[in-house]
Amino acid sequence: MTLLEQIRQKAQEKFKTIVLPEGTEERTLKAVETLVKEKIANPILIGEEGAVKAKAQQVGADIGGVEIINPAQAPFYADFVEMFYEMRKAKGMTPEKAQQLLLDPLYFGSMMVKTGKADGEVAGAINTTGDVLRPALQIIKTAPGMSAVSGAFIMIVPNCELGDNGIMVFADCAVTPNPTAEQLAEFAFASAETARSLCGIKEPVVGMLSFSTKGSASHELVDKVIKATEIAKSRWPELPIDGEFQADAALVAKVGQSKAPGSAAAGKCNVLVFPDLQAGNIGYKLVQRLAKAEAIGPILQGMAKPVNDLSRGCSVEDVINVVAMTAVRA
Ligand code: ACO
Repeated sequence: MTLLEQIRQKAQEKFKTIVLPEGTEERTLKAVETLVKEKIANPILIGEEGAVKAKAQQVGADIGGVEIINPAQAPFYADFVEMFYEMRKAKGMTPEKAQQLLLDPLYFGSMMVKTGKADGEVAGAINTTGDVLRPALQIIKTAPGMSAVSGAFIMIVPNCELGDNGIMVFADCAVTPNPTAEQLAEFAFASAETARSLCGIKEPVVGMLSFSTKGSASHELVDKVIKATEIAKSRWPELPIDGEFQADAALVAKVGQSKAPGSAAAGKCNVLVFPDLQAGNIGYKLVQRLAKAEAIGPILQGMAKPVNDLSRGCSVEDVINVVAMTAVRA
């Protein structure tokens, strides 16, 4: 069974309710048909019922029996407006602005997750990452003990023995442009958890990446990675983690032994934490294109409840897979 098949199977076992705010989007509607047929999740679509059904018919998606919620007519719309206003009035929110924002399916969807009316949310087929993330960050917020959200990719590299037989987790590739050392440490912990819970990697080994290995270069950027490694080791003493490593020292046993002798993690890493978003985003795209790797994600880590972002170039299968991953994490 492939990793994605395993994830779909785990989702079927959990059978969670996932809200999809982009209710009139073609790939979303087609994915919903499969989600229901294969009992991967219980999807809820947001949108005006007539428009959602008309679009489904036009694209040939059978969404019979699926719950559709129009924010403007939802019985709990007024409660959502009140809650949202209370939550954000100290930040300058007004009742009028709250009324207007809660008509936006992305804000409404995040409130559904916040209030437990859905277990998770998936959007981004027609909205940018920032537009999906902002309401989620404002409403659902980070998990206890986490100060920042990160986006991980599961990389499946063909014909590769590095990582966990070619499977690796890369982070942060999607969210926090310039993390602090504390935030990098959080990304390490959260990524190891993603490796365990989604990839079935029994022993995640985290490498904190830099352009230096164990002091081979000195620079304030390297110092940040060294500090992040120390923080992670002291906050989570059981976490197998080390750094700072260059990518080859993290992944390749021989290089790890020669550049970082004595490190239990060097050369064995299957979770790579990049020093900032530019490195992470460039890194995963290079591996995806040059090594013809499958890149599954971004999987948002550190949120209090699971929300995941789709790429605007996503396929129907991608939507199904991201819903399944969201359900597994719910
Ligand atoms: N982690 C946790 N919370 C955050 C983060 C973060 N990284 N960033 C912002 N927040 C919180 C803020 O504290 C704030 O909460 P508050 O209003 O309750 O105080 C709320 O989110 C909104 O913050 P803003 O500063 O108004 O949001 P901003 O406009 O900066 O957007 C965002 C945040 C969307 C995460 C932004 O940093 C961003 O766009 N990041 C890059 C996304 C991106 O383009 N990724 C690459 C493409 S994805 C890909 O290729 C796979």
